Amino acid sequence: MEDAADVSRFDVVVVGGGIIGLSVAWTAAARGMSVAVVDDRANAGATHAAAGMLAPVGEVSYGEEALLELNLAAAGRYPDFVSKLEDCSGADVGYRTTGTLVVARDLDDKARLDELHAYQLGLGLSARKLRVQECRKLQPALAPTVRSGLVVEGDHSVDNRALARALAVACERARVCVKSDRVTEVSTGVVMTSGGEVVRGDAVVLAAGSESSAIEGMPAEVAASVRPVKGQLLHLSGPAEPPLLTMTVRGVDIYLVPRSDGRLIVGATVEEAGFDTRVTAGAVFELLRAAYELVPGVTELALTEVVAGLRPGSVDNAPLIGETSVPALYAATGHYRNGILLASVTADALVELLVTGTTPSLIESFSPLRFAA
Ligand code: GLY
Repeated sequence: MEDAADVSRFDVVVVGGGIIGLSVAWTAAARGMSVAVVDDRANAGATHAAAGMLAPVGEVSYGEEALLELNLAAAGRYPDFVSKLEDCSGADVGYRTTGTLVVARDLDDKARLDELHAYQLGLGLSARKLRVQECRKLQPALAPTVRSGLVVEGDHSVDNRALARALAVACERARVCVKSDRVTEVSTGVVMTSGGEVVRGDAVVLAAGSESSAIEGMPAEVAASVRPVKGQLLHLSGPAEPPLLTMTVRGVDIYLVPRSDGRLIVGATVEEAGFDTRVTAGAVFELLRAAYELVPGVTELALTEVVAGLRPGSVDNAPLIGETSVPALYAATGHYRNGILLASVTADALVELLVTGTTPSLIESFSPLRFAA
């Protein structure tokens, strides 16, 4: 039986305090709802480990056209999201619109880049082929062995950690109640915690990322279709002026994302390793070697951090957003490689669903019920 002292009630209870959970909470609070977020490791998960790329065009994949549409919509709204968030929080989130340069190291890479470019153009996306001299003019730090490139002016980046901190401030200012406790069980209108608290909500939003399957009562279509996909990244640091890179540079399997203070994030491995979050010597070696092949000057930078995070991968690489098979339980998870990009668009659409009871057309293809038995 519930002890009355341990029960609290809200319009919306969000399970998970990463970028998706905080965005949903902030957006719901802005629509006048009372909101709680429950998480004992807020911002220690995938949000903390990400590189902050906003890359719908550079990361486009075959067969994922519906996801591309959502990613493009998200990228289009990012300037507005950032500007509102910076106003509400008073913080700079490190949004950079200097674009992305995808480069080829050798003839194999060049063939893959040509194929990618043809696919991008076929989808009506904007990406321009560059000759090697043009690449080097854009980013003089590139290795002399680089063969050619593609510039994607619309693929931007943000400092994901600064973004999460700003969202936490914005949530606090919007009177979102943040409870630092581990969620053990969910059911219609109820969230139970390891601390023995019962948090009630007219709606419960499941935004627990890769940990979704560990929570009792999670709808089967969510628990069975979201899994951890490990990514390891390096944080390097050098002078802000002159910076080693002024835009994101990526190869076929690696990316280097500069921040304006001289930091450079190098990522990322993609590993099916369950819930293992150890950082490994092998990953440091492979990432540094690949980064060096594109930008030899990385060896002059300080290595300040190695981080591993768990992307919430889904069966079809697309997120689960919307109603689940359990009444009043909604999902906002499974964002895999695009959580930072999709945070705002997910929050807007999900909160619209909560307020109106109608699923916005933008998220219709991402219903969690597509994985129902
Ligand atoms: N979107 C980059 C990554 O998941 O590594």
